Amino acid sequence: MINVAEYAAAAAEKVEPSVWCYFEGGAGDEVTLRANIAAYSRWRFRPRMLVDVSSVSTETTLLGIPVSMPVGVAPFAMQRLLDPDGEVATARAAAAAGALLAVSTLTTRTHADIEAASDGPRWFQLYVTRDRAATLEHIAEARERGYSAVVLTVDLPYVGRRERDLRLGFQNPPPDLALPYAHLFDTTPALTWRDLEWIRTECALPLVVKGILTREDALLAVEHGADAVWVSNHGGRQLDHVAAGIDALPEVVEAVAGRCEVYVDGGIRRGGDVVKALALGARAAFAGRAFACGLAVEGEQGVASVLELLRAEIELTLGLLGCTSPDEVTRGHIEPTVPYDPLA
Ligand SMILES: Cc1cc2nc3c(=O)[nH]c(=O)nc-3n(C[C@H](O)[C@H](O)[C@H](O)COP(=O)(O)O)c2cc1C
Repeated sequence: MINVAEYAAAAAEKVEPSVWCYFEGGAGDEVTLRANIAAYSRWRFRPRMLVDVSSVSTETTLLGIPVSMPVGVAPFAMQRLLDPDGEVATARAAAAAGALLAVSTLTTRTHADIEAASDGPRWFQLYVTRDRAATLEHIAEARERGYSAVVLTVDLPYVGRRERDLRLGFQNPPPDLALPYAHLFDTTPALTWRDLEWIRTECALPLVVKGILTREDALLAVEHGADAVWVSNHGGRQLDHVAAGIDALPEVVEAVAGRCEVYVDGGIRRGGDVVKALALGARAAFAGRAFACGLAVEGEQGVASVLELLRAEIELTLGLLGCTSPDEVTRGHIEPTVPYDPLA
């Protein structure tokens, strides 16, 4: 298979519809789900010529950690629904590629299993639960298991209404699926910025705040000690009719003004999408479904292939743009295809 779209088509063929709906679908009318992908087409490249691009590297750092490419694996839940090895397969592939892996609280493998399978860079995605002691224990376990940052997901006070799941009878989580940390998914809709301060104080690891879509919240995240802000609409699975990730990115980048790293996710299907995110000020992008498709089709090998496809596309895009590394991509390397001001 030669691109992510082909993996997506193969995954949709292979996986039982009553399971694939959970991975593929979004909330409500899926306006945001579609916007996540469509928004990338509203930007085009402005390549520069006669730059020596005989050596192009996709390597970068995220919170100081060296990674092989500016795209990482977003935390996505319940991977054993797609492959018997689940998160362990994804972890092996990410580690072999030198890519950053974020592991969901709703992992179907234990942190110990994932640690044993991976010597690569790993972050741990946290939901804050009603039981604060349990949340702290989970953070402590994450530290012991070699995760180097905590990604706090803040866009899930309630679970979005995903109509494909309702139509096909997908139960979230499936009653017969073992989720070692399911008790930690008891998220509280009462969570506030004050709790972020509490987590910041208690959590000795760098803190990434995931699920930010506005300049107002980006500023609050920085003020409350976030080490990075992750622009995300949860893959169009939470509130429908919010901005595509890439559309929310510019105002967040402007508000953060270099005080911390900014990442973006939602709709990444091509290396070129990642490079557009870099041009708009992201340090890196993350993808969920692209890797879910790889995992569903070919397990560990499928995730490895999708990583390598994206890495090679990023490398080629950089070279054709006249950039020898992610750091050289600037706002001047893209322009909107239609009069469009995301800061308006
Ligand atoms: C099936 C699925 C499960 C997800 N589970 C989680 C999760 O447990 N925690 C979380 O923070 N985000 C979760 N996400 C959101 C992803 O981290 C990410 O924001 C999203 O997938 C990005 O959009 P993309 O799939 O178009 O790349 C999930 C996404 C999908 C598709």
